[in-house]
Amino acid sequence: MAIFQAGGKCASMSCPAAYGTAVTRCLRHARHYIASLLLLWGFSMPAAATLFRIGLITPPGHQWTDAADAFASAVATQYGGEHEVIVYPSRQLGTEAQMLQLLQTGALDFAILTVSELSNRLPRFNALYAPYRVGSAQQAAELLGSAAARELLAGLPDELGVIGTGYTMAGMRHILSRKPLAQVQDLQGIKVRITPLAPVRDFYRLLGAAPTPMPLSSVFDALANGQIDAIDMDLESIWTLRYYEYADTLLLSGHMMFPAVGLMSARGSLRLPAHLRQALAALLQQQLEAVLNRYPALEAQWLNQLQATGITITAVDAAWFGEAPVQWQQHTLPP
Ligand code: BEZ
Repeated sequence: MAIFQAGGKCASMSCPAAYGTAVTRCLRHARHYIASLLLLWGFSMPAAATLFRIGLITPPGHQWTDAADAFASAVATQYGGEHEVIVYPSRQLGTEAQMLQLLQTGALDFAILTVSELSNRLPRFNALYAPYRVGSAQQAAELLGSAAARELLAGLPDELGVIGTGYTMAGMRHILSRKPLAQVQDLQGIKVRITPLAPVRDFYRLLGAAPTPMPLSSVFDALANGQIDAIDMDLESIWTLRYYEYADTLLLSGHMMFPAVGLMSARGSLRLPAHLRQALAALLQQQLEAVLNRYPALEAQWLNQLQATGITITAVDAAWFGEAPVQWQQHTLPP
């Protein structure tokens, strides 16, 4: 297997060479690959670094990927070549469900996953998706940084074989639509792309819409070719992935927060001394919290940029959605 393909792509992880960070990653893959080959051929390498892998679904340039890259840099700074982290963004290691399985077997060391991957298995996490539980990204950051939210992670090693280092987020959810949304009735029957996740599906069903589960990687094409009418999305993705070019009505609803979680393989961590396990988890969480805390200001910036494009932006609150937020509490949360 050649590590570099013609055209400058990294064959091991097919990352585009156009990205600076991806090139660095390619070099790391190459080093890892050469070290493996030498070992295979019976050569010994001087004190090889322990390589850890972190996977996530977001592309280079997304805040979560930046956090993963910053984690890798922090480990390199702190452990100077003794331990190294390689970042695999853009679903290079598979879907979130597949990455969770890799964490469970110890084949993957770390991941940053949407909390949906937990709440699809453990309904207590549904509480984090309650419509209008928080009114802003600032409140969302406070809630996700709270002891009560961290408490939800405590049972994960026994339940799922992963250690939750803590949360980050992609701010608040809004609706970007190809059709005008003057009143809640306008959502009736329209196909709204959602993250595959029961609490979000329930919310749109209560609104009479047709929730259409779809991974982030499929959204652009589905929106561009008219397969869906609207998307449930955050401002970062709407702006940086240019979804607004294909749907020009933004309902600035902030109806839910969109949490993510830092995870470490419980099985993999057993191979590490306790002090290293704790130090690595803390380094990852520092970066996730940095994203959590900068998100409120970033949202304001992305909103300004979207306003400058001239798309129609209408701010609405819980009242716009009628009974649905209250019905959601009765319908979705365990008693
Ligand atoms: C989404 O499924 O909408 C999503 C996933 C990860 C980051 C941002 C958005």
